[in-house]
Amino acid sequence: MEDDIQEEMLSEFRERRVGGWQILQLAAGTGLAVYAVWAGILMPGFRRVPLKLQVPYMPASRAQVCNVMTLLKGRSGGIADLGSGDGRIVLEACRQGFSPAVGYELNPWLVRLARFHAWRAGLHRRVSYQREDLWKVDLSTYKNVTVFLAPSVLSLLQKKLLAELPEDALIVAGRFPFPDWTACKLEGEGADRAWAYRIQELRRRYQSQDTKSLVLN
Ligand SMILES: C[S@@+](CC[C@H](N)C(=O)[O-])C[C@H]1O[C@@H](n2cnc3c(N)ncnc32)[C@H](O)[C@@H]1O
Repeated sequence: MEDDIQEEMLSEFRERRVGGWQILQLAAGTGLAVYAVWAGILMPGFRRVPLKLQVPYMPASRAQVCNVMTLLKGRSGGIADLGSGDGRIVLEACRQGFSPAVGYELNPWLVRLARFHAWRAGLHRRVSYQREDLWKVDLSTYKNVTVFLAPSVLSLLQKKLLAELPEDALIVAGRFPFPDWTACKLEGEGADRAWAYRIQELRRRYQSQDTKSLVLN
């Protein structure tokens, strides 16, 4: 009896062999689902941002956050994380005494998540997460800036930082260094490495040179 049922199921399975059309449908469905997650959850708010400036969300590891904080040791004042994701760097900076501690992030889901994390940590009154395009933010009041962005974006960001930051500002980059700048200090190894740059040193160094050609190549 059982053998009959098994045989019946087996022959039914054989008859329902997946054909090319079904494989195509499966591939299209999977592609659509991946695109929906990409466009709806990971990259909303990026429609008006040129493709080469779009950086997907990839949160900093615990070691990366730790390395960034080590490079910021001894500093104070305001801090901005450009592309703040779920807000972990801003939250840790706030714990270390930086104020105001502000995150700028285009993805509304991540802004909400960051606010939730801050609320859960009891720090929601001491941090701020704003849904804003980092290219449109006025950075002139920030003595400390952190960035975890792609190299293509970093090379363009150099110009904005040099133009806007106050003379005593420190910039900390995680995962990728600024392509044209020399760091004054670095911390950590491999993918966890972070680089610190003093804006005063960079300006002094490039004072006699054509800044545009240095930062926009
Ligand atoms: C690699 S993640 C880093 C997230 C966070 N800083 C961290 O270290 O965990 C880069 C973030 O930058 C955001 N982002 C990219 N371009 C942006 C822009 N033009 N304005 C604001 N946020 C942006 C992305 O949505 C993403 O969350």
